Amino acid sequence: MKHITPSGPISASVRLPGSKSITNRALVVAALADGISRLRGALDADDTRAMVESLQGMGVDVRWEQTDLVVVGAGGSPGHGDVTIDARGSGTTARFLAAAAALRAGTTTIDGNRRLRERPMGDLVRALGGLGAAVEALGEDDRLPLRIHGPALEGGATVVDAGRSSQFVSALLMAAACAESDVILELTGPVVSRPYIDQTLQVMAAFGSGAGWDGPSTLIVPAGGYEARTYDIEGDASAAAYPLSAAAICGGTVTVGPIPAESVQADLALLAVLGRMGAEISHRAGRITLTGRPRTLQPVAEDMNAAPDAVLALAVTALFADGESHITDIANLRLKESDRIEDLAAELRKLGATVVTTPDSLTVEPGDLRPASIDPHDDHRMAMAFAVAGLRIPGVAIEDPEVVAKTWPEFFDVLETLRSPLVVAIDGPAGVGKSSVSEAVAGRFGLRHLETGGTYRAAALAVVEAGIEPDDEEAVARLVDDLEVDIAAGRVLLNGRDVTDDVRTEAVSTAASRVSALPRVRRALVELQRRWVAAETSGAVVEGRDIGTVVFPDSPVKVFLTADPEVRAARRVGDLGLSPEEIPRIAADMAARDERDSTRAVSPLRPAQDAVELDTSNMSIDEVVGAISRLVLHRR
Ligand code: DC
Repeated sequence: MKHITPSGPISASVRLPGSKSITNRALVVAALADGISRLRGALDADDTRAMVESLQGMGVDVRWEQTDLVVVGAGGSPGHGDVTIDARGSGTTARFLAAAAALRAGTTTIDGNRRLRERPMGDLVRALGGLGAAVEALGEDDRLPLRIHGPALEGGATVVDAGRSSQFVSALLMAAACAESDVILELTGPVVSRPYIDQTLQVMAAFGSGAGWDGPSTLIVPAGGYEARTYDIEGDASAAAYPLSAAAICGGTVTVGPIPAESVQADLALLAVLGRMGAEISHRAGRITLTGRPRTLQPVAEDMNAAPDAVLALAVTALFADGESHITDIANLRLKESDRIEDLAAELRKLGATVVTTPDSLTVEPGDLRPASIDPHDDHRMAMAFAVAGLRIPGVAIEDPEVVAKTWPEFFDVLETLRSPLVVAIDGPAGVGKSSVSEAVAGRFGLRHLETGGTYRAAALAVVEAGIEPDDEEAVARLVDDLEVDIAAGRVLLNGRDVTDDVRTEAVSTAASRVSALPRVRRALVELQRRWVAAETSGAVVEGRDIGTVVFPDSPVKVFLTADPEVRAARRVGDLGLSPEEIPRIAADMAARDERDSTRAVSPLRPAQDAVELDTSNMSIDEVVGAISRLVLHRR
């Protein structure tokens, strides 16, 4: 179980794991090339290990050198001899190598785990036969295991049904460049996931092949093989979705890379969608930067057919939009690692959303968000997407965090580098209920509570005890510079002494209001308050007069509490246990203090421009806490 701590605005730069689809394509092409290739920034995860170990099993010399894969290409023939290889659960490994095995001298038997044995292979087997390969399907319905006898890949024209998987087309393309003569592939059926075919062509081109489209459903692959090279693997665009979505919903800025401008990775389609939701995005020098505006995320209606892997991050982002989002044309998602449509809907509902599914779409209506323990259904993308939701919704836990190893083993460490402490800023005049409310909000979200008034009161007490005039800036500043003030568990400590009760007197209140008008005192105490918060990794509810304007101007949640003067005086009289007759005198004191706090030259009491003002005159504490909790969740 992994508990996610909520975050303030993000400020981070993320090195993405290498793209899984590009790593596995480059491995196959490099194994077929002439000479030694180096694949820089390759992905080391379950699916690429299956490819590396299968190639090694075929007799290809492939090895890791830190984050590079070094591949000794055998000039069009990936090893030789009779071998059996295990593609485990990796569909690209089984399919790409079934085609490449036709180029080997010897018999190659390819098998995989139970799930892989259920996946279709027949269209590939038939198309390979059309190019002169000798492929036997030993499983029922032309499924795994496959046995390929080579070398036999003559070339010529063949037909492939591209309606089921683009991986068949990619497999044929990569092997075809090493056939005896040119290859023409005619694609039948509606072509699914066309960007993945373009991805294959791009990798092939990098290794010297001139393969390309000749019309909407014909591909031509000239014979001639590949040349070895040093190749930079792009960062994984599917992985990029999580940090990008994090900045979209938490605010702040995140930069991810390396992804070159000419990248054709399908999931980059998410960038435009996040842009339509209100984020600001730029793509420069191989890096994508996103700046979030969480207060104004717009709902969207998007056809995500071409970028199915990005749907999970999008659905989670939609939880924070200002209305209902529709994600359509995603029937394919039901056939992935889990039935992603239903599983996604179930987990989104746990967080308070209303979700409607159809066979090929998902509608997300954000509701009153609430904490939940999330079951990723053995799906790495579910775990990563919902962990991102936890940066906004306090109390989210991921039940099976280790599933992320499939594509991004370091994901949770990276998530931690994205996080900044969440600061909830609550300002307002005396007697408005700041302390009780702040304490309760902090408790609800697992944040610490800092009452900054206590720091000014402690300084004032020291001034009073030292017999210094509270307006004598020079003398007060000298004293304050040497003070040790700490606020811990609601107690105020002055030079290690608990002065919580001593600082509540009216005399100290008046002195506090006066010393707090001195710029040098403020400088020292603001510094102390920021240090206090920086030491709290989860974040804090910070209350005072200038928290939203001066101490934490970037806080994503700013509240300014007000109440009628008589109401505030009555509350204060109640707090101090005085008789109701005292109300007029306390009201007059407060009015004088308000006047001084609001008109002083430095950090006067006033709402920040982006603060939400709440008049609490007729609200109970619970109502105020409820209203602020909603602001914390919705960040507006
Ligand atoms: O919140 P309080 O009543 O304990 O605050 C005591 C005094 O400290 C109050 O008169 C104003 C001052 N103060 C301030 O100037 N800035 C803050 N952030 C908090 C308190």
